[in-house]
Amino acid sequence: MTKRRVTIVEVGPRDGLQNETAQVTTADKLALIDLLARAGLGRIEATAFVSPRWVPQMADHDAVMRGASRRSGVVYSALVPNEKGAEAALAAGAQALAVFTAASETFSRRNTNCSVAEGISRFIPVVALARRAGVPVRGYVSCALDCPYEGAIGPAAVAEVSTRLFEIGCDEIALSDTIGRGTPERTSRMVEAALEKVPATQLAGHFHDTSGRAIANVAAAWTLGVSVFDGSVGGLGGCPYAPGATGNLATETLVTHFEQSGLETRVDLERLREVARWIRARTTEASGCGS
Ligand code: HMG
Ligand code: MG
Repeated sequence: MTKRRVTIVEVGPRDGLQNETAQVTTADKLALIDLLARAGLGRIEATAFVSPRWVPQMADHDAVMRGASRRSGVVYSALVPNEKGAEAALAAGAQALAVFTAASETFSRRNTNCSVAEGISRFIPVVALARRAGVPVRGYVSCALDCPYEGAIGPAAVAEVSTRLFEIGCDEIALSDTIGRGTPERTSRMVEAALEKVPATQLAGHFHDTSGRAIANVAAAWTLGVSVFDGSVGGLGGCPYAPGATGNLATETLVTHFEQSGLETRVDLERLREVARWIRARTTEASGCGS
């Protein structure tokens, strides 16, 4: 039997830095992206083409996407909320796009100023643009377990939004525990519900680690066939519109977990740990939190 492969998606430059109070310079973002590629990460979410009024930390998206070193074998993606963002991201050389909505109406409104249905309708032209450009599209489902405003979210809501994203042509659906309160049991029920309509090969897991259970949730999703997981180097970040959300699961923890389970991640753990220290020093320095 061939061994299952795991794919790790690095979201630190986007999901991590979008929530840091520190304003990391564009030059440091470019250095970070290159260090991550050199550490072996094959998919890097480099920035977000969102409104700079909503997320000022991502205002330099154009310079970041244009300036990112293009190492062969590495896919550099951008988060986009609408057609305007998608056009700009593709013009700047994004090799993959990610759209985002939620399994919670309140979160959708707080994060993107529109309902879930309106948000998804904005993704239709995004998918069309991506198809023409020949790049894949990921669709995030935020609040797949809990919403900071509505509380626990049922698996049926996640299944419904995942199905819609899949139907409009998203190539991958990223089930996201935005505020990191999920448990392995609830993760299993949520993934099982999504699996009714979306094949495991097109699902990804995006877990924040607020309660320290992200690895247990990854393991639960892996057991059900999910093989793509997100990490944020150094555990950076959170979401500016999800109060209480801490960073994503640290990529180095994710790599360690899979390597210890006997799977090859192709990530150089030592190098990655160095990158984590490097960016951590920059974010604490820049926020004035350093001693
Ligand atoms: P809005 O204010 O309703 O937009 O924002 P609008 O259409 O009314 O336009 C207002 C202004 O924004 C206009 O500019 C537009 O051109 C501009 P003006 O004419 O006033 O100068 N605009 C844009 N500018 C740059 N890029 C764009 C863009 N679109 C419009 N793409 C909007 C609606 C969706 C734009 C806004 O709410 C937004 O940008 N939200 C993004 C919030 C965000 O980035 N949140 C964090 C990422 S999601 C997340 O972290 C969760 C995730 O990690 C998974 C998980 O953990 O759950 C993915
Ligand atoms: Mg996130």
